[in-house]
Amino acid sequence: MTPDLKPPAATPPMGWNSWNQFGPNVDECVIRETADAFVRTGLKDCGYEYVVIDDCWSRKSGRDAHGDLVPDPQRFPNGVRALADHVHGLGLKLGIYSDAADKTCGSYPGSYEFEEQDARLWASWGIDFLKYDYCNAPVDQAAAIERYTRMGNALRKTGREILYSVCEWGGRNPHVWGRRVGAQMWRVSGDVYDSWVNIWMPDWNAYAIGIDVAIDLAADLAPFGGPGGWNDLDMLVVGLKGKGQILGTGMSKLEYQTHMSMWCMACSPLMIGCDIRTMTPDTAELLANREVLAVNQDGLGRPARRVKRFGRCEAWAKPLADGSLAVALVNRGSTGEDIRIRAGDLGLTDEPKLARNLWAGEDIADFTQELVMRVQPHETILLKIKA
Ligand code: GLA
Repeated sequence: MTPDLKPPAATPPMGWNSWNQFGPNVDECVIRETADAFVRTGLKDCGYEYVVIDDCWSRKSGRDAHGDLVPDPQRFPNGVRALADHVHGLGLKLGIYSDAADKTCGSYPGSYEFEEQDARLWASWGIDFLKYDYCNAPVDQAAAIERYTRMGNALRKTGREILYSVCEWGGRNPHVWGRRVGAQMWRVSGDVYDSWVNIWMPDWNAYAIGIDVAIDLAADLAPFGGPGGWNDLDMLVVGLKGKGQILGTGMSKLEYQTHMSMWCMACSPLMIGCDIRTMTPDTAELLANREVLAVNQDGLGRPARRVKRFGRCEAWAKPLADGSLAVALVNRGSTGEDIRIRAGDLGLTDEPKLARNLWAGEDIADFTQELVMRVQPHETILLKIKA
């Protein structure tokens, strides 16, 4: 099967989203230059495909006389259609954002009761992806299902393949009904911030999620993700380094490595959040390691399970299509540890096996019964183990 004939989201969607870095300051120049940077930096060749414009892209004062959404005339003077042409010309896809209420999270016009009109407009512009948020909408699950179904149907009716990303933050169990409303991915948490630990947000009266806590969400929801429908752990914070529009102090390279490793193991969509036009070599190394990305994009599409805990350390396992096993050794504690993993913990026999360290890009050992690896605080070592 050629890649073009793959069903939508056969593997977790990969791309970039404007919010984490640019927040409300997104404009057509950023989108155009980011699309160009996909190609220039090699991220496109690694499989990153969707360039997604998040909240605040439309005219804040409202729709036009026909009830259509209007791109903000200052920030998108050439309109979205021209951007889509540019993005498509590079062999990439363009995404947009709206909300299942009358206003988005940033108080821009939302799409509730305009679903078909908006979906038709986006399709006419050449949009390939919709992130559909849930600010200002009723809290109950039935209303959420109803509102997400309305948009799912409207997208289908356009006849254009538009990947549908549900963003109601996990509170109404979208992993249970996401596929039913036509979605290919659903957020499982509130916003993940550029931080190892959670951050208290007085305005929300809730915590923004840090990487350490997101890992537990991935463990709980593993059975619900698979080809065509994925648990979305939120956009990546790799490379923000405390400088994005979202809060957070930034993280160490090892912490970003854990973040990337676990998003890959969990089969989360990989939507980059930093400014790739100016990313540093260490950020590029984390985002573009092909052996690591292959774990995320593996054709079997099985999210990893946590198979063992050793104090603050954990081992996770993810079966791969070629019969091998991806294994993550995660140290969530604050001191370096030797993680001692036995073949039996991973459901493997005592036959000789080859272990390859994917971040280091090297074969590390033949092992039969037990493998011992030193894992630094907040580090994750990713292994591929082959019989
Ligand atoms: C919510 C979403 C974020 C982002 C903002 C935009 O908080 O969870 O990912 O889209 O809205 O306002």
